[in-house]
Amino acid sequence: MPRNGWQGNHAQAIALACRLLGVPVTVVMPTDAPSVKYDATAAYGAEIIQYDRQKIAREALTDELISQHGYTLVPPFDSEYILAGQGTAVKELVEDTGELDYVITPCGGGGLLSGSAISAKHALPNCRVIGVEPEIADDGRQSLRSGKIVAIPAPETIADGLRTTSLGKITFPLIQEYVDDIITVSEDEIIRTMYFLWTRMKLVVEPSGAAGLSATLATLVSLEGTRFRLVVAEGENLDSQELPALEMPYGQFRPDSGLRDCLNGWLAAGGPHHEVMNLGRHAADWQVFCQLAGIEYVAV
Ligand SMILES: Cc1ncc(COP(=O)(O)O)c(C=O)c1O
Repeated sequence: MPRNGWQGNHAQAIALACRLLGVPVTVVMPTDAPSVKYDATAAYGAEIIQYDRQKIAREALTDELISQHGYTLVPPFDSEYILAGQGTAVKELVEDTGELDYVITPCGGGGLLSGSAISAKHALPNCRVIGVEPEIADDGRQSLRSGKIVAIPAPETIADGLRTTSLGKITFPLIQEYVDDIITVSEDEIIRTMYFLWTRMKLVVEPSGAAGLSATLATLVSLEGTRFRLVVAEGENLDSQELPALEMPYGQFRPDSGLRDCLNGWLAAGGPHHEVMNLGRHAADWQVFCQLAGIEYVAV
């Protein structure tokens, strides 16, 4: 039984693994987990028990289920096995790139961060490792600053995978030993980063996965003079229907509405545009051309 701290990513992985192995699995998931994660977990055949994170501590619920049914727990982050798995992404990247000045990863319960930090510091002792949390879920930063595990009330961040209330007993001392700093980003910065990844790089990254890059884009991490850096941007379980619209000069931009519709809305509202073109990957070239030619142009 996975005790789900990944609000669904861990749940999906365990549900699929159990289906492949023919092992029955029960997953504990918060009621506000994104439907895309809930649906996938259910489709892999897991029995799902939902709970309200504001009212029930999932540890208490899973402990009760274990004592009733004798389940084996697969924790989402506070386990040496999980950390070892998390550390493989940075290990493989270091093997490929050879050098990294920075590793920046999101931090929820700290499994991804501590696993990545162990790999990075082992191979490259001078590489700086930074964890990133949403401002309103900054228990990790508080813990690192105060030298003891700080627990916060269930946070309401858009980054559903980072809604954990505290670091773990195993992850915290490792973070103290191997992580240089934990910093925070606002909800707005996370959303803007997702749109940036989506519109410019054609990458679908969920809010929790975008948090690390948010810190770089918001220049919270000074990258001056660095040559190689790795920002771990993972997790594609994005439910576009649940995303807030981004306020743009021409109105609201949603991933499920077309760019052309948005711009046409702006035109209809009296925007100073004359023609709307779908430029796709040529947008940057077009922008330079327009700047040189003195043509008014809006790039999204
Ligand atoms: C996409 C994504 N990235 C990162 C994390 C952080 O993981 P951890 O709890 O190991 O810190 C999570 C956690 O749910 C997540 O869903």
